[in-house]
Amino acid sequence: MKTLVLKVNPANPEDIKIRVAAEIIQKGGLVAFPTETVYGLGADALNAEAVLALFEAKQRPLDNPPIVHVADKTEVAPLVKVVPKKAELLMEKFWPGPLTLIFKHSAKVPSVTTAGLDTVAVRMPNHPVALALIKATQRPIAAPSANLAGKPSPTNAQHVYEDLNGRINAILDGGVANIGVESTVVDLSTNPPMLLRPGGAPFEALKAVLPELVLHPFVQAEKELALEKTRSPGMRHKHYAPKAPVVLIEGNLPDVVAKIKELTESYRAEGKKVGVLSTDETKNSYRAYSVKSLGSRSNLASIAQNLFRQLRKIDAENIDVIIAESVPSEGLGLAVMNRLRKASGYHIIKAV
Ligand code: TXA
Ligand code: MG
Repeated sequence: MKTLVLKVNPANPEDIKIRVAAEIIQKGGLVAFPTETVYGLGADALNAEAVLALFEAKQRPLDNPPIVHVADKTEVAPLVKVVPKKAELLMEKFWPGPLTLIFKHSAKVPSVTTAGLDTVAVRMPNHPVALALIKATQRPIAAPSANLAGKPSPTNAQHVYEDLNGRINAILDGGVANIGVESTVVDLSTNPPMLLRPGGAPFEALKAVLPELVLHPFVQAEKELALEKTRSPGMRHKHYAPKAPVVLIEGNLPDVVAKIKELTESYRAEGKKVGVLSTDETKNSYRAYSVKSLGSRSNLASIAQNLFRQLRKIDAENIDVIIAESVPSEGLGLAVMNRLRKASGYHIIKAV
């Protein structure tokens, strides 16, 4: 399959290009597009065959459902059994934006779109290209992140191209996805409501609107949890794992830096090529084959923004082992730490 790449103006997408992309989706095809979090790979959410092709293109296991994207709050009701009051509150405050809500789904949603669950994930993205595409398509768009399963989510069109060229119909290239980590997933079908995946909407901000919201234990897990404890299918799947093993160092910053220096030396003595994922404040402390900064510790949002891009970059350097610094688990830092822990396969060392 030839993959068409269409450059679009991210702030004010050209009608003609949006129409081409919308027609592809209406005919059952696959189009990658930018959102404010990461790039998504879109298919008509109500077309079972198209959604099946979506799973195939990504090589994604069929038991892990995609998020259904809408362009307006009124498009939720037909997809779900009820819109609870709590959902209305959250949608009012956070939509359009990086928040995905889990509802009991209606009969309208094909079972492949929900992976056979009784619930569906819905989000209204805050990106002119995504919104224009959904509107022009005139139906909800199922869109997981536009990466091959097991790769970091794509934060620009080049990442999508690397993973999916030849496997999908088109890519709308609208520049860089600003937030850089995926949306926060909140399950409202449980009591109390639970945050299943930390992401672009910080837990603290959500809790200010919904005080009873709790974190699923998996969100801050320091080891793999037993299957029956997982609530979101995505929790069971391998994610964000670079080719090289990742070791994550947690603790107070001076202890972390000292530990990374010590580990770098011992890996080097074994003849290994070491990569370090550091921060602006610490990057000059290390002597390794490759040292990358994720951004400044005073701006956790910048670290979230750079995380997947730097993971892809360091992975392309054929490193033998990657050592990563931890960051505080507050604001966007919670999502960053969740992704780093998963990337490390829970190979975590506590520096003291
Ligand atoms: O920011 C994002 O959320 C991006 C952009 C493209 O919108 N999308 C994204 O989709 O990250 P994906 O498919 O890579 O991740 C969706 C997550 C998975 O962890 C999946 O298991 C979970 O949402 N999910 C989907 N449906 C669910 C459901 N009914 N119940 C619980 N979790 C669900
Ligand atoms: Mg994904």
